[in-house]
Amino acid sequence: MKKTRVALIGCGRVARVHADALVALDETELVAVVDIKPDRAEAFSQHYGVKAYTDYRDVLELPNVDAVQIATPHYNHAEIAIAALKAGKDVLTEKPMAISVPDMEAMIQTAKDTKRTLGVIFQNRYNDASQAVKQVIEEGKLGAINGTRAIITWRRTDEYYSESDWKGTWDKEGGGVLIDQAIHTIDLMQWLVGEVDYLEARYDTRAHDQIDVDDVAEAHIVFKNGAIGCLYASCNYSYDAPIFLEIHGEKGIAHIIGDRAIITIGNKTMTVEQQPDETTGLRYWGFSHKRQIRDHYRAVQAGKKPFIDGKAGKTAVDMVLAMYESSRRQTPVYFPYVPGAPSCKKHRGGCCGR
Ligand SMILES: NC(=O)c1ccc[n+]([C@@H]2O[C@H](COP(=O)([O-])OP(=O)(O)OC[C@H]3O[C@@H](n4cnc5c(N)ncnc54)[C@H](O)[C@@H]3O)[C@@H](O)[C@H]2O)c1
Repeated sequence: MKKTRVALIGCGRVARVHADALVALDETELVAVVDIKPDRAEAFSQHYGVKAYTDYRDVLELPNVDAVQIATPHYNHAEIAIAALKAGKDVLTEKPMAISVPDMEAMIQTAKDTKRTLGVIFQNRYNDASQAVKQVIEEGKLGAINGTRAIITWRRTDEYYSESDWKGTWDKEGGGVLIDQAIHTIDLMQWLVGEVDYLEARYDTRAHDQIDVDDVAEAHIVFKNGAIGCLYASCNYSYDAPIFLEIHGEKGIAHIIGDRAIITIGNKTMTVEQQPDETTGLRYWGFSHKRQIRDHYRAVQAGKKPFIDGKAGKTAVDMVLAMYESSRRQTPVYFPYVPGAPSCKKHRGGCCGR
């Protein structure tokens, strides 16, 4: 099998998880690393034995690069992805794919126009726990979904923000706990439960003085199938606690707690644990980067759409952006999400302008 030759753009905290997977997998070969900070690019270059670059545009000109993987700050995912697609490279970008709806739409359109592949990392869909819960839902074993609730309580210190030149900013990170940390669980929630009808949310900055993005948020989410969702997210907790996600169906209930699923149907309970052979990454981030990266390139090599393409990656960002808008406007926000659209619950058409 011909390996896909990949350049990794961004050599920061998450990048080792990407590079290790690209080196280990049969489907891929790591051929270049890029970081605007030369010391970071050099450290990766030394460690992985590939050439270092400081300008991503240089690797887009290389004929031996088939694809790029983007692990840079949120605000430049769109710029880099669009440039790479136009240069004929396939793209797999870290979450969130971008921080605005127009940017996400431009990425999806560019992938279509260039006939290249755009994928988005949401590795937790590949966890054994998530897959097991998805399966029982699809087999109808939980019955109709009545409700879902999620609790994400992690810890991000003052240093986490002060040491970064982009975290904790609206223009570069695009938000705080919702767009960076909770987005994984928001993605799982919508993937497992279905399309959102409307949501209402509030956020605040409660425990960090030097940022003005959200470090705490809550949301009420109503799905098109009638299911009711509750979400609480905070990065002001004492440690990175395992995420909690519950799916309550008319015939049973499923819990994802960290990387374990506990599914109860009638008087039978099944527990599903993550298989350790596949693990890469930190436990609370979710283990399954390697699985997603392998599945993504298998799809690319077979000429198929990847499981999490641009359209699939956009939904959770739409939800996050809608939560921010709902909080600012103090109104519900309806889906499909159109930024700034009228949101009067009674008069969806916007007759009263709310
Ligand atoms: N899926 C997950 O579980 C997970 C976990 C952590 C981070 N992430 C995501 O990964 C991305 C990176 O996060 P991080 O924590 O590694 O950030 P980071 O700040 O540690 O690393 C980002 C790197 O990108 C470099 N960079 C910035 N602009 C660049 C450019 N134009 N070209 C090349 N390099 C550039 C920076 O110098 C830095 O080294 C974010 O999208 C983040 O949300 C995902």
